[in-house]
Formats: sequence, structure tokens, C-alpha cells
Amino acid sequence: MSAADRREEHLKVLLRRASIERRVREIARQISRDYRGRRIHLIGVLKGACIFLSDLVRHIAGDVSIDFIAVSSYGKGKETSGQVRLNKDLDSSIAGKHVILVEDILDTGLTLSYLRRVLLQRRPGSFKIAALLDKPSRRIKKDVQADYVGFKIPNEFVVGYGLDYAERYRNLRDVCILTLPPE
Ligand code: IMP
Ligand code: MG
Repeated sequence: MSAADRREEHLKVLLRRASIERRVREIARQISRDYRGRRIHLIGVLKGACIFLSDLVRHIAGDVSIDFIAVSSYGKGKETSGQVRLNKDLDSSIAGKHVILVEDILDTGLTLSYLRRVLLQRRPGSFKIAALLDKPSRRIKKDVQADYVGFKIPNEFVVGYGLDYAERYRNLRDVCILTLPPE
């Protein structure tokens, strides 16, 4: 992509880094309270959740282990393909563990619905979902909900703080609305 193309893309801040930081700390405190005395097994959904997970885990008090799983559904563009594919499985068994699945954004719910089904079959001790962002207006899988939600956001395509557009913008510290030039 040339510099000229890139200038056509427009970013507008939706969530500033300071409020993300504050909210992530609140969620971590809530999780620490809810799981007192139990070891937490955080599972990050790659790649989008890696930054949320790394900030979250540092504010959780107590015993925590981490694993990652990778799926793809969106391809390179902005629209979901509707198909979820498992690209990388977990390293260790989750049987009996207190799992919190950590995701960047809950959109149509197809990804989390798939992951919930696959992971519940492996008999964790308990299972909850933490999502930094929630776009409720886009939900197709109505029965999928996150137990911990950072922010409910409107139906806009967002990037930053781990979220990408064609693998770019994950490094932005604010969550921004991305508008593309007309085709
Ligand atoms: P779902 O399966 O439609 O719920 O989509 C979940 C996945 O789609 C997320 O893990 C993201 O990777 C991606 N996604 C959904 N909405 C956005 C967005 O606004 N920006 C960037 N990625 C998104
Ligand atoms: Mg993702």
C-alpha cells in the first residue's frame, strides 16, 4: 500500500487510552474478586486479544495461567466470512480449569459461539468470557454474551489496541473508528 492510499483512510478516536486503561483495571479487579481462592486460566484469542490480555493479566491478583488459541473468520477485509477456522489449538488441557476466554470484540458472535462449543466439550471446571468491546447491534448468535465487557460500542468498524484492519493498526493505543475511501 502506498502512502497516498493510506492517507485516504481516516481514523477517529472512539476510546482513549486512559479510559481503556481504567476500564481494564476495573475488570481485572472484578475478576480477582469473583475468583478469589481459585486459579484462573486465561485463554487469549489471537491475535486481536493479545494486548487486552497482557494488560488485564497484570492487574489480576492471585494465581493465573495463560494459553492462546487462534481462529480466523474475517479474512483480510471488514466483513465476516461466516466461517470460523481453528488456526492454532491450545497447548494444554483445560479439563477442570477455571477458564476465562479473552476476546477483543464480540460482533456477530459467530467466533465466540464456535469457541464456546469447542471449549465446553473439553470439560473445564468453569467457563466465562471477557470481551473488551461489544457491538450488540450486530449479533447473529443471540445466545452469546460476555460475562465481562469493557465497552459497548456502536456499529462501526474499529481498530487499535490489538484490533486490526488487514493486519494493520493493532499498535494504536486508542481504539479508533476506521473509515475507508470509497472503492
Ligand atoms: P464475530 O465472530 O463476528 O463476533 O467477530 C469476532 C471477530 O471479528 C473479532 O475477534 C475480530 O477479530 C473481528 N472483528 C469484528 N468486528 C471488528 C472491528 O470492528 N474491527 C476489527 N475486527 C473486528
Ligand atoms: Mg479476534
